[in-house]
Formats: sequence, C-alpha cells, structure tokens
Amino acid sequence: MKLTFFGHSCFLLESNGTRILFDPFITGNELAKDINIDDIKADYILLSHGHMDHVLDAEAIAKANNATIVSNFEIVSWYQEKKGIENGHPMNHGGSKSFDFGTVKFVNAVHSSVLPDGTYGGNPGGFVIQIENKTFYYAGDTALHMDMKLIGEYDQPDFSILPIGDNFTMGVKDAIIASDFVGTNNVVAMHFDTFPYIATDLENAKEQFTAAGKDLIILNIGESIEL
Ligand code: NI
Ligand code: MN
Repeated sequence: MKLTFFGHSCFLLESNGTRILFDPFITGNELAKDINIDDIKADYILLSHGHMDHVLDAEAIAKANNATIVSNFEIVSWYQEKKGIENGHPMNHGGSKSFDFGTVKFVNAVHSSVLPDGTYGGNPGGFVIQIENKTFYYAGDTALHMDMKLIGEYDQPDFSILPIGDNFTMGVKDAIIASDFVGTNNVVAMHFDTFPYIATDLENAKEQFTAAGKDLIILNIGESIEL
C-alpha cells in the first residue's frame, strides 16, 4: 500500500490497483505547483467536507478518470446535480460501506462545511478505512473531540492522517492528544503551511511528537511512502 502526498490535505492511497484520492486541492495551492492534476489517476475521490481547500480539483479529476466521489449526502448530491458527475456514493455519519477495495466508515469531525458556490455542504467528517488488513483514520478538518476515543476503542487504526496546522483545525498539541485517543503512534501530518494562517514550525512539531513517544511523518509534496 502506497501513500502519496499532493499538498495540504490531499493524499493518494494505492492498494492492489485501486487508487483512492482524498481532498484534492492542488491547482489552487502554490506549494503544489509542480503537481499536474492530469497525471493523477483515481478510482475513488473521498471528500471530507465542502470547503474549497478540500474539493477544488475533485470535479476535474473525477471527470478525467470517471472516478466515484464518496462523501456526505449533500456534497455527493451537489456533484451529481450541479456538476454532472455520474458516479457518486453518499454516506452519513456512523455509516460504513464495503467497496471493492475495503470498508469505509464516515465519522464525526468538528468543523464546518459549505460548498464553493455557497450551497450547504452537510456536516464535515473523516474516514476510517479498512484495507489490506490495515486500518487507518483520515481525520479531515477537525478539532480534537471525544468521539475519537470510539475510533481508538473499536477500530484501532494502524496509522492516522491528522491536521496539525492549528487556527482552522487542531494544532500540534491537540493532534498528539488525538493520536492518543485513536490509539496510534504513527501519524501523517496534513493541513499545515498552505496559507499564512496555518504556517507551522515543523521541526518543533516533530520534536513534540517524539517527546510524546510518537512518530510524526511529514511528507514532501509529491513524496510517497509504503505502509
Ligand atoms: Ni475546512
Ligand atoms: Mn481546510
């Protein structure tokens, strides 16, 4: 299983030939200017919420690849009704669904969600995914919240992708607590540095995780790791 970072909160997970893309925001991200979205192949596009910095390139990539958009009901309906996307899979909080690659559960996030044209974007979420006998948690944009303990108790992720940039989401300190709540010491960082509001001292962030006995993985844009 390979995980590639495309900047901000956008990751591509490749497993047994299935390509799952999360929250594509590339053409609007100056830091990701070397990434060409025409090179990104995706079978599924998972969207945590409706904000522009999570959905900007979803339409183009979905249409180019005939990919299926998986998100909350409101966001999937918007893509189908307003954007002419044929393949959508709507979910809502607490629901799990088996796909050909594994199982996806849509879980709580504490944040907001509106689509780029002002349409109501439902409630924001995260994803707990079971794939290749591994479990991982993609938190989306969220505050630290107590429901993360349910994930730790019942899903026990092998690794988690958590926001660390503060201001709009958890910062480093709360991300460390979140990783305790979800019961994993292996954390991949997202939602940092893209905008001045979320500029992050990454060396300090890594030190804080290390001091807590945890590993914070910070990928360069375009970098991949094997999981
Ligand atoms: Ni957001
Ligand atoms: Mn965001």
